[in-house]
Amino acid sequence: MAKDQQTNDLMEKLVSLCKRRGFIFPGSEIYGGLNGFWDYGPLGVELKRNVKDAWWSDMVTGRIDMVGLDSAIIMNPHVWVASGHESGFTDPMVDCKDCGGRFRADDLTTPCPKNKNKLHSDLPDHMTPSRQFNMMFKTFVGAMEESSSQAYLRPETAQGIFVNFNNVLQTSRLKIPFGIAQIGKSFRNEINPRNFTFRSREFEQMEIEFFVHPSEGEKFYEYWRHLRYQWYIDLGLGKDRLHLRPHAKEELAHYAAGCSDIEYDFPFGTSELEGIANRTDFDLKRHMEFSGKDLMYFDDQSREKYIPHVVEPSAGVDRAALAFLCEAYHEEVVKDETRVVMKFHPRIAPIKAAILPLVNRDGMPEKAQKIFNHVRKHFNVFYDDKGAIGRRYRRQDEAGTPFGFTIDGQTVQDDTVTVRDRDTMTQERISTDKIVDYLHDKLHLDT
Ligand code: GAP
Repeated sequence: MAKDQQTNDLMEKLVSLCKRRGFIFPGSEIYGGLNGFWDYGPLGVELKRNVKDAWWSDMVTGRIDMVGLDSAIIMNPHVWVASGHESGFTDPMVDCKDCGGRFRADDLTTPCPKNKNKLHSDLPDHMTPSRQFNMMFKTFVGAMEESSSQAYLRPETAQGIFVNFNNVLQTSRLKIPFGIAQIGKSFRNEINPRNFTFRSREFEQMEIEFFVHPSEGEKFYEYWRHLRYQWYIDLGLGKDRLHLRPHAKEELAHYAAGCSDIEYDFPFGTSELEGIANRTDFDLKRHMEFSGKDLMYFDDQSREKYIPHVVEPSAGVDRAALAFLCEAYHEEVVKDETRVVMKFHPRIAPIKAAILPLVNRDGMPEKAQKIFNHVRKHFNVFYDDKGAIGRRYRRQDEAGTPFGFTIDGQTVQDDTVTVRDRDTMTQERISTDKIVDYLHDKLHLDT
């Protein structure tokens, strides 16, 4: 099979599994959906929550130099003037005069239904000249729909951090170097949402602004680049599919002293998961200028007063979740049948274990319920008593559940269960009172 076809097939299979098993649904699907918006189902919401929890515990609560923040999505519109988003957060856009489609000028790989499905890139004379299109969603605050009440849905969480720099500094009494972290929704009116959730119009970001002495920008830029790259590896992304790509000089924003993307080889191509930028003092300086407030830092030991420089690791939750989904997807032939198994790292697996009574009689359901009630106090576990045991294992394989505990006739006799390992499919027998310890031991959730 040609590589392109394999790639399409893999994405198709993944999208279909996500829908079928309740990871990701098209947004407002019963009304025909809305392009660029997605809903996370029962498994997807656990996956995404695990990604965010892993990030929060590794980047925030697990460190002494970091605090968290949860700022409002709608901010004073002056924020976006100061940040440069109002004037500069644009994509070049063109319209097709024949089909009426609107596209990013740098991405015309879509076929035109009015021109025998020729690609728009091959129809330059049919396209309007390129115009700049601001990607911020507009809304109105209060009852009046007039320009003075116009506001924006934030296109990034980062600005909420900058405008709270003084508040956090004064209340947390942190000393530079330190960081402020935030996870939250961002909105961008992308011209071409595409590649499943990869480019959406509503998505979540996990952002850090790490404030440092101006002389240490480069040092901390290097530190964060490598730390963030390793984070994805530790959660299971293959080293050979993950790249740390420094931007060329021409790609850098005028204020940036350095920027690198962490890129992943998705089935549809190598694309950005996260950006790490050395933004110098640009943001705080701009907010000082536009707000008239003093956002300088005073070092009471050296008696030095300065505008901190900032290193910004900025990640997308949905993109990370999509990369973990792509990485996890495996097809294996077992006894002439294809087994689809999601080999998630245990930390991000939506369900950690399944509790499965072999049959619904002879004391097995009672035993299984008891075990379930005990184990679910410690882990997110799933109880399933419907259908043949082999089919139940397959369902848990598709959900990516690392372990299945089967309660059979012997359990009723001697309080032992079989444990099935998702990846190797090997089984062993352990005592029921060892299940929680077994999971703690095998899942390594605190690494
Ligand atoms: N504060 C810097 C900033 O927002 P960005 O490169 O525009 O930088 C950071 O976005 C991350 O947010 C990206 O690396 C990506 O993971 C995620 N992201 C950006 N646009 C997105 C979109 N349309 N859909 C999904 N994720 C997106």
